[in-house]
Amino acid sequence: MEKGIFVTGSDTGVGKTVIAGALAATMKAQGLNVGVMKPVSTGARKIGEKFVSEDARYLKEIAGSVDELDLINPIRLEPPLAPTLAARKTGITIKLEKVWSAFKELQSRHDFLVVEGIGGLMVPIDEDHFVADMASKMDLPIVIVCKYYLGAINHTLLTVECAKSRNLRIKGLIINMLDKENEVVTEIEKFSHFPVLGTIPPNKNISVANCTFGNIVEYFKQEINILRIIKKGI
Ligand SMILES: Nc1ncnc2c1ncn2[C@@H]1O[C@H](COP(=O)(O)OP(=O)(O)O)[C@@H](O)[C@H]1O
Ligand SMILES: [Mg+2]
Repeated sequence: MEKGIFVTGSDTGVGKTVIAGALAATMKAQGLNVGVMKPVSTGARKIGEKFVSEDARYLKEIAGSVDELDLINPIRLEPPLAPTLAARKTGITIKLEKVWSAFKELQSRHDFLVVEGIGGLMVPIDEDHFVADMASKMDLPIVIVCKYYLGAINHTLLTVECAKSRNLRIKGLIINMLDKENEVVTEIEKFSHFPVLGTIPPNKNISVANCTFGNIVEYFKQEINILRIIKKGI
């Protein structure tokens, strides 16, 4: 069995949180001791005394995680900018040691971790690391989430090329906002040489902001190739 999966995307806003959450919740429903993590977030909202990331809260809720939010999301910044810019604007130095130690602690508590990146693979998270380096350092294979829009094939294939050039292990792709049986699926598989593990249609009952999940876990159980993600090997 793999020790986790790193969920990245072809862009921001493509559905990483929704899909990472659904993967974790489906694995949990199938009896796996699974934890969730959103190592670095920006655009955090102040709730009481603390800044909270919507993504981290969503992942915690849908996966029924009892881990502390500080561990799930060790680095959160308020401005809705790339991490390096958000850090500069607030005068904060991003200390990735906090991420590595939280990751280790979560690994000791769980058999499998679903980790959501931030933006895409080439988002800088500090002066020396991109998101791709974080996936590499965690030694996790990746799933690439993309969303159906004009330009999606280009963004998806660019992400695949980037992952390959950085020796990341790609488990497959998940296409959001798309009904099954679309020719885009065959096109992406043909040119990327990686499998599309599933497609997710738009669903009004899904909202990260409102923390609502619709029937996504039921859908994942039936339609997404979860075993391929959990099982060791490509
Ligand atoms: N399948 C879907 N149906 C309806 N809304 C969705 C779906 N997937 C994502 N969304 C919405 O689209 C927005 C972006 O999704 P999100 O998972 O937050 O993307 P990312 O994590 O890549 O930034 C959110 O507001 C989310 O609620
Ligand atoms: Mg997200």
